[in-house]
Amino acid sequence: MSGLFITLEGPEGAGKSTNRDYLAARLREHGLDVVLTREPGGTPLAEKIRELLLAPSDERMAADTELLLVFAARAQHLAEVIRPALARGAVVLCDRFTDATYAYQGGGRGLSLARIGMLEQFVQADLRPDLTLVFDLPVEVGLARAAARGRLDRFEQEGKAFFDAVRHAYLQRAEAQPQRYSLLDAAQPLERVQSAIDALLPGIVERCHG
Ligand code: TMP
Repeated sequence: MSGLFITLEGPEGAGKSTNRDYLAARLREHGLDVVLTREPGGTPLAEKIRELLLAPSDERMAADTELLLVFAARAQHLAEVIRPALARGAVVLCDRFTDATYAYQGGGRGLSLARIGMLEQFVQADLRPDLTLVFDLPVEVGLARAAARGRLDRFEQEGKAFFDAVRHAYLQRAEAQPQRYSLLDAAQPLERVQSAIDALLPGIVERCHG
């Protein structure tokens, strides 16, 4: 038995968490075993690594350190949560995964995509998400929403050029592999975004039962 691995991606302020909870509730209505989790994080150790990654600090974090911390957290999360849940047939709904590494460390920081790919293969072997929902919205809108939430974390303190590159990387990946990605317009009112999620439900439920 093998479950379904669904990831949610997008920039800051795209409403990922709200929509993740909405999708989880709808899938549970269909009687599915749903595991909600997030990256970086998802286990106590990986959450400690998340704190290191997000905390603003006087010492500049080298881009390679950031990349390795992201994959260290991911290795722990895969071993403790994601692989066991998929093995028992659950649907894993994960708020961010390796597409965020391609977008933030690849697009934002400018690290080589080939090196990210090597780490992806090392840490995940052949495991990739079955479906990735990308919540897209203009950079200015996302940054304004994030700023309204209060203190900015280390990533949120980056400027517009960084987030333009993040957005571009997500859109490029979604375009290159339309069978894995669903691109959702997160600038619409929430009900419209949720209707778009509703439209994906039959396909997801069918894959879980199939
Ligand atoms: P969030 O999950 O609250 O949006 O914040 C997590 C932050 O971590 C977000 O700014 C994106 C960043 N991140 C990376 O830079 N690379 C990654 O691989 C992941 C999973 C997240």
